[in-house]
Amino acid sequence: RNWEHCTHLPDQLAAQRKEIDAVLEPFLLSPETLREVKNKMRTELEYGLKRETQGSATVKMLPTYVCGTPDGTEKGKFLALDLGGTNFRVLLVKIRSGRRKSVRMYNKIFAIPLEIMQGTGEELFDHIVHCIADFLEYMGIKGARLPLGFTFSFPCKQASIDKGTLVGWTKGFKATDCEGEDVVDMLREAIKRRNEFDLDIVAVVNDTVGTMMTCGYEDPNCEIGLIAGTGSNVCYMEDMKNIEIVEGNEGKMCINTEWGGFGDNGCIDNIRTEYDKEVDEGSLNPGKQRYEKMTSGMYLGEIVRQILIDLTKRGLLFRGQISESLRKRGIFETKFLSQIESDRLALLQVRQILQQLGLDSTCEDSIIVKEVCGAVSRRAAQLCGAGLAAIVEKKRENRGVEHLQITVGVDGTLYKLHPHFSRVLQETVKELAPWCDVTFMLSEDGSGKGAALITAVAKRLRNIDKYLYAMRLSDETLIDIMARFRREMKNGLSRDFNPTATVKMLPTFVRSIPDGSEKGDFIALDLGGSYFRILRVKVSHEKKQTVQMESEIYNTPEDIMHGSGTRLFDHVAECLGDFMEKQQIKDKKLPVGFTFSFPCRQSKLDEGVLITWTKRFKASGVEGADVVKLLNRAIKKRGDYDADIMAVVNDTVGTMMTCGFDDQRCEVGLIIGTGTNACYMEEMRHIDLVEGDEGRMCINTEWGAFGDDGSLEDIRTEFDREIDRGSLNPGKQLFEKMVSGLYMGELVRLILVKMAKEGLLFEGRITPELLTKGKFETKHVSAIEKSKEGLSKAKDILTRLGVEPSHEDCVAVQHVCTIVSFRSANLVAATLGAILCQLRDNKGVGRLRTTVGVDGSLYKMHPQYARRLHKTTRRLVPDSDVRFLLSESGSGKGAAMVTAVAYRLADPLLLAALRGQRKGRGLRRRCFSPATV
Ligand code: G6P
Ligand code: G6P
Ligand code: BGC
Ligand code: BGC
Repeated sequence: RNWEHCTHLPDQLAAQRKEIDAVLEPFLLSPETLREVKNKMRTELEYGLKRETQGSATVKMLPTYVCGTPDGTEKGKFLALDLGGTNFRVLLVKIRSGRRKSVRMYNKIFAIPLEIMQGTGEELFDHIVHCIADFLEYMGIKGARLPLGFTFSFPCKQASIDKGTLVGWTKGFKATDCEGEDVVDMLREAIKRRNEFDLDIVAVVNDTVGTMMTCGYEDPNCEIGLIAGTGSNVCYMEDMKNIEIVEGNEGKMCINTEWGGFGDNGCIDNIRTEYDKEVDEGSLNPGKQRYEKMTSGMYLGEIVRQILIDLTKRGLLFRGQISESLRKRGIFETKFLSQIESDRLALLQVRQILQQLGLDSTCEDSIIVKEVCGAVSRRAAQLCGAGLAAIVEKKRENRGVEHLQITVGVDGTLYKLHPHFSRVLQETVKELAPWCDVTFMLSEDGSGKGAALITAVAKRLRNIDKYLYAMRLSDETLIDIMARFRREMKNGLSRDFNPTATVKMLPTFVRSIPDGSEKGDFIALDLGGSYFRILRVKVSHEKKQTVQMESEIYNTPEDIMHGSGTRLFDHVAECLGDFMEKQQIKDKKLPVGFTFSFPCRQSKLDEGVLITWTKRFKASGVEGADVVKLLNRAIKKRGDYDADIMAVVNDTVGTMMTCGFDDQRCEVGLIIGTGTNACYMEEMRHIDLVEGDEGRMCINTEWGAFGDDGSLEDIRTEFDREIDRGSLNPGKQLFEKMVSGLYMGELVRLILVKMAKEGLLFEGRITPELLTKGKFETKHVSAIEKSKEGLSKAKDILTRLGVEPSHEDCVAVQHVCTIVSFRSANLVAATLGAILCQLRDNKGVGRLRTTVGVDGSLYKMHPQYARRLHKTTRRLVPDSDVRFLLSESGSGKGAAMVTAVAYRLADPLLLAALRGQRKGRGLRRRCFSPATV
């Protein structure tokens, strides 16, 4: 026949036409079938995201720890490896940011011989490192320890951006001893074995992710990466709240779907043909990657070959002769398939290609081969389109929009080289996801570029980590700090060491928690926390003990906190007068409990000599004086009302008493607010400073001063020192300054300033607001660490500081906040742990069961703090059952409880009885005023 006229099968073959059609019929997928495939894919995507179904899901939905697409601020010089596609490449990528942002790349392709792809893991990685060495030599950069991004185009389980455990080989790879191993470790070890150069492996990335990032650099709307090449796969940006296996609900993370495994549970077996099964059985990974084997370049040629063999057997092709060549697995590579299907190619040329492959064909044979190729590749494109439609539909639902506009970054030889694949794919998506306007963007530079961009971001985050390395305290360090604090406690309790001890361990003369018998009408003053509050507390005793409280908050302006002591106490007395007026009790002399949240030395309940001011206060002439006397004097001076101050109570003690009212087991009071401190019930026999060995007394540890003798220098950072220098009390309360709310925001601000100065944030921009002390508050730390709106809060807060934060900046700032607040919770867990151990040892029990009463704005307002504190404490003191009980009503109620007991004991008859009980100890008490309760 004349090849010029050979365009279709001649009439005499019409009989065979039917048989050929019958063979190819299963490759024609109806719109309904495709829709079904889309829906099944959709179901599998959800399975992969859910915790309970994820283990058995065929579409693995692997978290990648890539949390954003490029924003143009990436920069630096990077190495990239690109392994797993048609070519193995080593690249040098130079990224410039800013207005002249650009990416320059240099690369070299290396062969990976079959025996290495399927040899041992060690051989494979040695070969890779050999190629890197060659490249470094070639580029003349062997000495530089460059950061490296590793595109590894196989399914990997990741727990962070720089770790990836190979789930299973796919495509043409089958090296031994790699599955279940971390490929980054394997690469690192191979580099070590070679011992010629060093590299800093920062990120491991799937090719889909690399492709999405490559395209995302040009188009910020690119949130999907598709590979239609040797293998088939998709990744996309998923909302964190939908990813159950990764903690946190905030923002997005890229999910590598590994959709190649779709159907491995048999769910698309209805559309798999005999030929597909044949191909699967002959592959390196039978039973696996069933969807990939119907859609990707590595397998399409094989499917074609299987059909051709069948047609030949049926006598419909190659004169019924199965040639040697046709028996050869892998002869139909994607590129031949693409050539054969080209419309521009005359049949004569098709014949020439077949001849190259060793297949001697007639004109009719060529037509049939071309038709077979068409059926197989068309089905592949349609199936791929159905899968992609499921993904874009999911994106549309996530965004909650009717109409979605999105860009898909695409790479892969099949998509790029095949004459019809991309068109059919796009048509299918349009058909199955009509509400989505999908732009397909071809990746021109491969995944290497994207991997380098990811490496740039990851390196920046890691820099922060490294930068703040000193703030991450290991359990080992925390246990050490726990031991140090235990020693401090011991020193503070001992007569000999107390005078020089930094942790003062102050006796409070409170000897028990409320027992339910308290009653009366009391006033409580509560000074020293975020608010100055005055309360009226009525404890009644009809049937059940009930407490009724009314309170008023009073302002304490800064000039009063920092002025003279006389003025401060005049202010307190004035507010008390106002309160009594409002309560219409000015004519009464109600007992008053005074919560004074500063370190006071007490020799009895109604005396408190201020040792030193802390936090925001610095009024002159008070340190060394008894605050009860000062307040009494101020009240007397006024002369318009009278008050009977019966007890001074630290806020920790007030909190313990408040919580003790509800839980008899409560024997620790903890404050994590403006300041930090704790009290607990200690055995009298351990308290040298108070006579007597029986029973217990509450000790106000004043742990804020821990470290004032230099014992925490090893964990203090330059930022802690700077905070201290700028504070009202330099050199004092060093532990408190690492922990409490008054300092946390400022600590973060100092870190941000330094990071910006070093170009790690805000592209190096620093604004006057950012440089202003106090502009970044602890409540901002709390807002930024919120799991849902944290990042958008970060954006608002930073924008108000005048910097224009990028998404990556926001992520970085959130990271800084987390590190600083986590350190605080960890430190408190260590000191609290020491107290718990002391209690356990005092009781001589193996396992401690106790309740800690807690109060303070940081503990209450910070979204993660309490959970972290509880968790670390339980880890540090495993032999304990600790209940953390939040004080709902402040220390005022507790102070009233203490006052109630004091008031009752002030009864002379009771006092006498008490004296009789405690032989020889009554001498220390003055008449009518109980020294202890
Ligand atoms: C990308 C990458 C490759 C990747 C490939 C898929 O651009 O740089 O490493 O695996 O495309 O295509 P292929 O057809 O080579 O499998
Ligand atoms: C308690 C008290 C306050 C105390 C505070 C600590 O409930 O009633 O006076 O000092 O909590 O928290 P803050 O965050 O206010 O310092
Ligand atoms: C791999 C994927 C990869 C895809 C495209 C598949 O065989 O499992 O990780 O993205 O091929 O290269
Ligand atoms: C004070 C403590 C107080 C703590 C919490 C510290 O600065 O020294 O007495 O308990 O803050 O308010």
